[in-house]
Amino acid sequence: FDMNGFQRDLIDWFRENQRVLPWRQSKDAYRVWVSEIMLQQTRVDTVIPYYLAFMREFPTPEALATATEDQILKAWEGLGYYSRVRNLQTAVREVVEEYGGKVPDTREEISTLKGVGPYTAGAILSIAYGKPEPAVDGNVMRVLSRILLIEEDIAKPATRKIFERILYDLISKEDPSSFNQGLMELGALICTPTSPGCLLCPVREQCRANHAGIQNTLPIKSKK
Ligand code: ADE
Repeated sequence: FDMNGFQRDLIDWFRENQRVLPWRQSKDAYRVWVSEIMLQQTRVDTVIPYYLAFMREFPTPEALATATEDQILKAWEGLGYYSRVRNLQTAVREVVEEYGGKVPDTREEISTLKGVGPYTAGAILSIAYGKPEPAVDGNVMRVLSRILLIEEDIAKPATRKIFERILYDLISKEDPSSFNQGLMELGALICTPTSPGCLLCPVREQCRANHAGIQNTLPIKSKK
């Protein structure tokens, strides 16, 4: 497996083909954080107008920290899973009080914040701070299970750590942000759950599932 070729092809493709999205216009950690929380259970197209309005109303951690419950729930109205915004405010208050309003830049510290799980931590650390930290969600597991022909059951909670360990080695140390977002974007635009578009894929030559012609059978996901 040509790791350097894979990193280069993925990153070059991402730089040229990424969608223009509002949260990609800045590397501010707070903005990245809000976008990743919104995107956890909600589609990109739905998130865009909510994200723009939220950032106008609460442009800084301090603004969100001092907002009322009514204000934050109103701003989230229609997105659902309201614990997301309650936890976000709790965590942002912690950032203001304990870190002077600067989102921490280590996995250890950022993971103590309410609602910030391993995926969100990795997304913020790589996108905002350029750290070589994996950000593994279901999309990334699907893409990587095909490229490396990994037959682990992605429905099992323990499987995420297997992918994280692989990604610590595989992630570009030059541009972790484009690497992680490239995996996400590949999953969104090409390496989709059903009928992946392998003919258009920038890394098809490095994809073990495509070579074996079994891209449609991966990832393995047990129902339970
Ligand atoms: N889904 C999760 N994170 C995302 C991001 N940063 N851009 C687009 N889609 C995403």
